[in-house]
Amino acid sequence: MIRDLLLKNRSYRSFDASVAIPKETLVAFVDNIRYTPSTRNAQGLRFRLCYEKEECAKVLALTKWAGALKDRHFPPEGHEPSAYIVICAEQDIFTRDVGIAAQTIMLSATEMGLGGCMIGSFDEGKLTELLAIPSNLRPRLILALGKPDETVVIEEAEENGLAYYRDENDVHHVPKLKTEDMIL
Ligand SMILES: Cc1cc2nc3c(=O)[nH]c(=O)nc-3n(C[C@H](O)[C@H](O)[C@H](O)COP(=O)(O)O)c2cc1C
Repeated sequence: MIRDLLLKNRSYRSFDASVAIPKETLVAFVDNIRYTPSTRNAQGLRFRLCYEKEECAKVLALTKWAGALKDRHFPPEGHEPSAYIVICAEQDIFTRDVGIAAQTIMLSATEMGLGGCMIGSFDEGKLTELLAIPSNLRPRLILALGKPDETVVIEEAEENGLAYYRDENDVHHVPKLKTEDMIL
């Protein structure tokens, strides 16, 4: 059921680093993008796959995680993602397509018992150079992927706001708006 998949598909920031994600799995995720809508059907996205340890470590160094949890460092040492998919697009008109592709990949990963986090906060210049992204493209979003080894729960947002937080058991809580508060 789509609802079950959506509930499981949280943003995870700690992983079992011993679980590798092979290139073929990442290719299968990108293959799913072929069945999604695309602005003008231009199919203007390109995907850079990172699955080798050394390259993954270099990508990680260019990313920022959980900015709202100032006193914590994510992912914890030894709990890094096993792979990344960098979604690239030539023009700004394709940034909506980026969201569609990103969620499609995350749901594909969730279905396989994997998970991850979308990372919009990264050093674009250094990433472009590191991954030799062609000059006509810009990296727009990074998908960090792995086998999650932490618990993330959602809860109804109360008057104390929408900030995510960790409790004393290191469970990550994500407040979500009530449906009636989202409908105009
Ligand atoms: C476009 C986009 C960019 C994001 N960028 C980051 C990021 O740079 N670092 C990070 O730790 N989380 C990032 N996130 C994850 C959000 O913080 C997360 O989706 C939000 O806290 C809600 O949690 P949930 O995904 O479990 O529902 C991003 C999410 C989206 C949709």
